Amino acid sequence: MNQRIHQFLSNDHRRIEDLLERATVEPGNYKIDLYQQFRIGLLTHIKMEEKVLFPAAQKANGGVQLEAFAQLRLEHGAITTLMVPPPTPALVKVLRYILDKHDLLEEKPGGMYDVCERLTEAQTDDLLLQMKNIGEVPVHPHNEAAYALETAIRSVQRAGYDYDQIAKN
Ligand SMILES: [Fe+2]
Ligand SMILES: [Fe+2]
Repeated sequence: MNQRIHQFLSNDHRRIEDLLERATVEPGNYKIDLYQQFRIGLLTHIKMEEKVLFPAAQKANGGVQLEAFAQLRLEHGAITTLMVPPPTPALVKVLRYILDKHDLLEEKPGGMYDVCERLTEAQTDDLLLQMKNIGEVPVHPHNEAAYALETAIRSVQRAGYDYDQIAKN
């Protein structure tokens, strides 16, 4: 099977993970410029999925939303809100945990990327082009207010994860 979309987005996962790794090597001394690149990369990746791939797959599926989209969208929401407060070791741990699960749902054999790729196989070139040209998502400075973290914790919970549990394990 044609795997070019799978390959393209999986490579992007690896690039984004690498940025997060390098930004957070030293706890207590995060490299904020790398963390900024991580945020931009991840938000832009989510935009490619939400604005290009998922809608194209849903259209090819007769307009019916694919079953896994609901969970993936909740996780996109959780990941996005986790990037608003400044990173702490606990927050980064939760972010990594959700990202690992999320990327697996997308990348595993028969997972979301395979399903989307099969449904849209006549448009692979066009979709790749649209994703490559999507334009970077601008990021705002971190919000240090307590409510920013509280909002993130709630959206993590909506996606089915327990922030405190993951942070302390
Ligand atoms: Fe995703
Ligand atoms: Fe992804």
